[in-house]
Amino acid sequence: MAQRVRGVIAPGKGEPVRIETVLVPDPGPGEAVVKVQACGVCHTDLHYREGGINDEFPFLLGHEAAGIVESVGAGVTEVAPGDFVILNWRAVCGQCRACRRGRPQYCFNTHNAKQRMTLEDGTELSPALGIGAFAEKTLVAAGQCTKVDPAASPAAAGLLGCGVMAGLGAAVNTGGVSRGDSVAVIGCGGVGNAAIMGSRLAGAARIIAVDIDDDKLATALRLGATHTVNSRSTDPVEAIRELTGGHGADVVVEAVGRPETYRQAFYARDLAGTVVLVGVPTPEMTLELPLLDVFGRGGSLKSSWYGDCLPSRDFPMLIDLYLQGRLDLDAFVSETIGLEDVEAAFARMNRGEVLRSVVLF
Ligand code: APR
Ligand code: ZN
Ligand code: ZN
Repeated sequence: MAQRVRGVIAPGKGEPVRIETVLVPDPGPGEAVVKVQACGVCHTDLHYREGGINDEFPFLLGHEAAGIVESVGAGVTEVAPGDFVILNWRAVCGQCRACRRGRPQYCFNTHNAKQRMTLEDGTELSPALGIGAFAEKTLVAAGQCTKVDPAASPAAAGLLGCGVMAGLGAAVNTGGVSRGDSVAVIGCGGVGNAAIMGSRLAGAARIIAVDIDDDKLATALRLGATHTVNSRSTDPVEAIRELTGGHGADVVVEAVGRPETYRQAFYARDLAGTVVLVGVPTPEMTLELPLLDVFGRGGSLKSSWYGDCLPSRDFPMLIDLYLQGRLDLDAFVSETIGLEDVEAAFARMNRGEVLRSVVLF
């Protein structure tokens, strides 16, 4: 028997979101129904609403969530009813070429639930990133659920499901930040600040935060940056070089997604350094670089997708660090809101007023 729950729907390109009744079917083989407790508001939800990802409207938004497993379908062994879980949008398959080569972070054969949630009139919903968690309950693949210590607050835990994992993993998993490194992070929103926190956890000696907004830089200092650069008034490439003995940073994380900040990241690294691109550009953006600079500078240029995370490895470990007081996930929760406040939260996100707004159920 399908259950009726309230969910946030993006009905059409650019249209404001609205709350509708969603029918959540019983879990089939390999699936789970999760009672959502918290779900963060992410840029990607807004991109779906604006039609920037695809046109499979209507969408059921929300994908940065934690909750309790309510029921599971046949053959599910990963989780059981009552488990506290973080949802992930890339349940790696373990079977594809990338997985078999020991690089599951590149798995594109991800096991997400089939689209089976509908509106009352039978219209099929596309759940954002295969999750759809701005809803009281959602249907996912059991492999999208990672069991973590239930002592964690749902709002904090849910953030590991997307933004915080993307930023922290960009620094630690993709960039390989290690003890003593110098790190520069360009763009200190939720993602950049998570990269700063990850760099501190990994033992970076210098963490240089770059932003155009002094409030964001103040937050970055609180969360672990050792130096700040306001790139409105100071050339960040020169400042980063100066702060690293003239070399440039060992790891530079770009967390804005604009050509000028990609360029700054490229030139702010040490010759053997690593640039990690995590900010998402738009399709029309291009960047021209002298080939000699690409050739002559060595090091590496990497993009980071979902922080190259392995949910089953990273989520429980990061929740442990959080519960020990070593990873301040609560610092990312700028406000908690109701399901009816998602549209207003998009506006605050666009104005740069929050690290994260989190819907609590
Ligand atoms: N130089 C430096 N910082 C900038 C610049 C710039 N030219 N332009 C904007 N910023 C800063 C903003 O002031 C803000 O602090 O970048 C930060 C962006 O933060 P958010 O808007 O909160 O975005 P966030 O959620 O952190 O995501 C950043 O990563 O995953 C991607 O899609 C996401 O592209 C986005 C990026
Ligand atoms: Zn795979
Ligand atoms: Zn997201």
